[in-house]
Amino acid sequence: MKTIELRLTVNGEARQWTIAPGDLLLDILRREGCYGVKRGCEKGECGACTVLVDGKPINSCLMFAAQAEGCDVLTIEGLAQGDTLDPLQEAFLDHGAVQCGYCTPGMILTAKALLARNPHPSEDEVRDTMAGNYCRCTGYLKPVEAVLAAAGRAEAPSRSRRKAVKR
Ligand code: FES
Ligand code: FES
Repeated sequence: MKTIELRLTVNGEARQWTIAPGDLLLDILRREGCYGVKRGCEKGECGACTVLVDGKPINSCLMFAAQAEGCDVLTIEGLAQGDTLDPLQEAFLDHGAVQCGYCTPGMILTAKALLARNPHPSEDEVRDTMAGNYCRCTGYLKPVEAVLAAAGRAEAPSRSRRKAVKR
């Protein structure tokens, strides 16, 4: 089988991995121990496999690993600083936004990219941004509350907005 060498940065560390040209980024990250990158639909629909590639949320099930050559990849494993959780991780825990947790890495990384480009998003902006991350457990309200809280907008969404994220 033909192989190639992939050089990239993952969670702040330079890596070099031998891959096949057709390997998906999802599979390679999991092969290399990033089990927070979840396998869901494998069709780019559920967001469970979301990672940040050069700061942008990417469905890693739709990206060839080879396309990450020279890129800076962040997975949920790289978000905390030592024992200190990222404010988004704290907020998800504080607001009960983690149930089974399968969607959580993707949700938090999507939110991380949102807050990086817009530190104080509106509720609508949070809902629109998170619309690509499916959750079977929480009903979406608590993750939205958590992102708003992490952004310093601790007020709960209004009762009229207590509905599932728009699709
Ligand atoms: S597993 Fe990649 S979007 Fe669902
Ligand atoms: S917490 Fe279970 S899928 Fe979202």
